[in-house]
Amino acid sequence: MEIVLSGIRSTGHLHLGNYYGALRNFTRMQDEYRCYFFIADLHSLTTHPKPDDFHSGVKAILSEYLAAGLDPEKVSLFVQSSVPEVSELYVLLNMLAYKGELERTASFKEKIRGREENVNAGLLTYPVLMAADILVHRAHKVPVGKDQEQHLEMSRVFARRFNSLYDTNIFPEPQAFNFGTDLVKIPGLDGSGKMGKSEGNGIFLIDDEKTIHKKVMRAVTDSGPTQPNSIMPESIQNIFAIMKVVSTPDTIAYFTDKYNDCSIRYGDLKKQLAEDICKQTNPIRERIETISQDDGYLRYVIEKGTTEARNSAHSTMLEVRKAVGFKSF
Ligand code: TYM
Repeated sequence: MEIVLSGIRSTGHLHLGNYYGALRNFTRMQDEYRCYFFIADLHSLTTHPKPDDFHSGVKAILSEYLAAGLDPEKVSLFVQSSVPEVSELYVLLNMLAYKGELERTASFKEKIRGREENVNAGLLTYPVLMAADILVHRAHKVPVGKDQEQHLEMSRVFARRFNSLYDTNIFPEPQAFNFGTDLVKIPGLDGSGKMGKSEGNGIFLIDDEKTIHKKVMRAVTDSGPTQPNSIMPESIQNIFAIMKVVSTPDTIAYFTDKYNDCSIRYGDLKKQLAEDICKQTNPIRERIETISQDDGYLRYVIEKGTTEARNSAHSTMLEVRKAVGFKSF
């Protein structure tokens, strides 16, 4: 059976980008594949969170993962730092990763822009740790949004390099996937770019209706089309891009026609978008509230998932160590 691995950084809360980029169709995925889902707490250390915030971030993401539909009886759910084999593989893969290629990574260039005071080696080798996460379970498929495409390509490069250097076929080449459809990029509603935690423009699964309405009504728009069938500016395309994942095709067609004949009222468009987002997020938010209170359940889920993930990682590392030439006396 093919192996699926999915990861989310443990910073803040899950937003619509995370949900539609990586988590949608959980139910199908956990029935069809052997799934490992984890919370990337080591990755979140690049920004030096305070110890208390660090742990609450992990707990929040865990509750939100479960509320979004993960079934711990079907998938292994764990925290990255509880599987030390990941760190060991990270060290080994670092020997195969070149400074030049890491410096050329789009996400590295983007992350260091404007924060020259903390360009640490963890940021530079971020894709190597990600490759270790994936390869330690010999995953075939990795559900991600479009922003992670290059990281997946690098994971394939490291897998190939390892296999070739040590003349082995331990690692399959992992593919980014979004359940048979193109990878998506959910934009922010601030006029450009993607929705993200660091971008400060997230609509979160945990947001209540009032907050969602407020955020959506603040979305950047222009003064409206004046020519029939004119090209939409990016800010309006962004509103439609979110509609595409939360609204019905009829709703989208209705507002597209209104845009094309210049009779659109952005207030109506936003109100509809906010309602459609709430329809998707309300049941998830209610489940988050219950699950996050249940420490016993969270502990059970993590203990089970960690044992399963460690077994998988351990068996990979036995082969990896042998291939590299580690021997006991
Ligand atoms: P993170 O926490 O930034 O995002 C988690 C997942 O959400 C997707 N995503 C988006 N998809 C579409 N539109 C958006 N606006 C958007 N924002 C986020 C991301 O593509 C990702 O799938 N490096 C990873 C965490 C990670 C990981 C891994 C993922 C660590 N190791 C191994 C997969 C496999 C990250 O920063 O995700």
